[in-house]
Amino acid sequence: MNRLLSVTILTLLFQQAAGSNLTGNWSIREPTADGTFRNTYLDLKQDGSQVTGSIRLTQFYYSIVESKTSADGFTLTGSMMDGRNERRVTYEVKLVGDELHVTTRANANAAPVEKVARRAPPGEGALPSRLPLPELHRVPENGLAKTPPMGWNSWNKFRNRVDDASVREMADAMVSSGMKAAGYQYINIDDIWEADRDPQGFIRSNKKFPDMKALADYVHSRGLKIGIYSSPGPTTCAGYEGSYGHEEQDAKTFADWGIDYLKYDWCSARIFYSDEEMQAVYQKMGDALRASGRLIVYSLCQYGRNEVWKWGPEVGGNLWRTTGDISDNWNSMTRIGFAQDEHSPWAKTGHWNDPDMLEIGNGGMSDDEYRTHMSLWSILAAPLLAGNDLRDMKPAIRDILTNREVIAIDQDSTGKQGTRTSKDGDQETWVKTLADGGQAIGLFNRGSQNTKMNLKWADIGLKSAPSKVRDLWARQDVKPAGLDYSADVPSHGVVMLRIHK
Ligand code: GLA
Repeated sequence: MNRLLSVTILTLLFQQAAGSNLTGNWSIREPTADGTFRNTYLDLKQDGSQVTGSIRLTQFYYSIVESKTSADGFTLTGSMMDGRNERRVTYEVKLVGDELHVTTRANANAAPVEKVARRAPPGEGALPSRLPLPELHRVPENGLAKTPPMGWNSWNKFRNRVDDASVREMADAMVSSGMKAAGYQYINIDDIWEADRDPQGFIRSNKKFPDMKALADYVHSRGLKIGIYSSPGPTTCAGYEGSYGHEEQDAKTFADWGIDYLKYDWCSARIFYSDEEMQAVYQKMGDALRASGRLIVYSLCQYGRNEVWKWGPEVGGNLWRTTGDISDNWNSMTRIGFAQDEHSPWAKTGHWNDPDMLEIGNGGMSDDEYRTHMSLWSILAAPLLAGNDLRDMKPAIRDILTNREVIAIDQDSTGKQGTRTSKDGDQETWVKTLADGGQAIGLFNRGSQNTKMNLKWADIGLKSAPSKVRDLWARQDVKPAGLDYSADVPSHGVVMLRIHK
């Protein structure tokens, strides 16, 4: 055997060991409970020991930047830019007969999960092309959300389990629990209601939501309003159909269904657009909602990137998230809530900072911690979107969510967001100016010990004791004698006062 022939045979053997026919479009197709499929695509091209191509899953689209051969396959590393940050994924792939076995880990410490990809037609799952963006202009006011929106949203508690029946029951419970009477109004369906598009491009709901219009009619018949969710990208964060290239059509569909509120979540728009382009992207839907002929509250969800508070109103936004996602625990809630001070100048009537939805009642915090959550969000003039199961609330949770005196602080007509006036270790005082010239005060104890906190009237601009001071959680007036007020504040708790001039 000559040398050239033996090299060729060795190369062929190596290629076979490394899986010589990885080239092609592969898809992992996982059925979901709502009748849709979760598809992950690996569009690969193998050239000897090198693999290039792309990996697409849910809201992410990675280019393969590194491939290494392993004992029986390849380790592929995908990379994508997300704003100014790079995201990476690592997949281990090997050919087993006609299948591509794909192993991933949710994070470095997670157990490996092996899934099976099969050959898909070329082009399936390919990204659409990048659509041009409009020139910036000011979207006229819609006149909605004069005070911070109040309602309920499915995501925090239900995730993919939200369906037609639970939404109807939540509307019923909002009425029967007294939440509607306390001011809660919107029943908002978050992600995972979507299916696909019909041949004319109109979006269809998945089998959990057989008739969106009938559902909206039902919610309206309870004297409430209904909200929905979409993304400016081709897919939502959970990988469902987004509004990319269908903005006007979707706004029209939502209007036809009777939708009153849209949460519009950046998600896969990150594949095409930089953070600096967000304003134009959000303006597109702002215009589309206006053109739909129905008044729809517009909620921007892009995690507080690119100083959204500065341009949110320009695109017709009524509220905008200022942070990443909240979780039902003390660290997450306080990390978000106590970091909102700098945004306060941007809140005003019709346009609100949104530090994310409430976790009150979801079980991960104590009642004192949930009172801190409710008090802080109210002083921040934040949207109050309950995220718990309203059908099944302990009385203590219902009392926290429906405390009308606290809600009145959130809903105060000045539209001003409160600010931190002092911080001493774990003790923080936050103050919000009210329309009647009074003030709401939150004495927050973030520490692990009960403590005494002191409020000097001079520190909140008063020369002497105010005429009336009300403790909003004790629901009683307190004696404002002397130059200050001293309160026992439990660990992780709050004393919330309303000062009358
Ligand atoms: C993002 C949002 C959440 C929720 C999910 C749904 O993470 O920030 O509030 O809407 O998407 O997929």
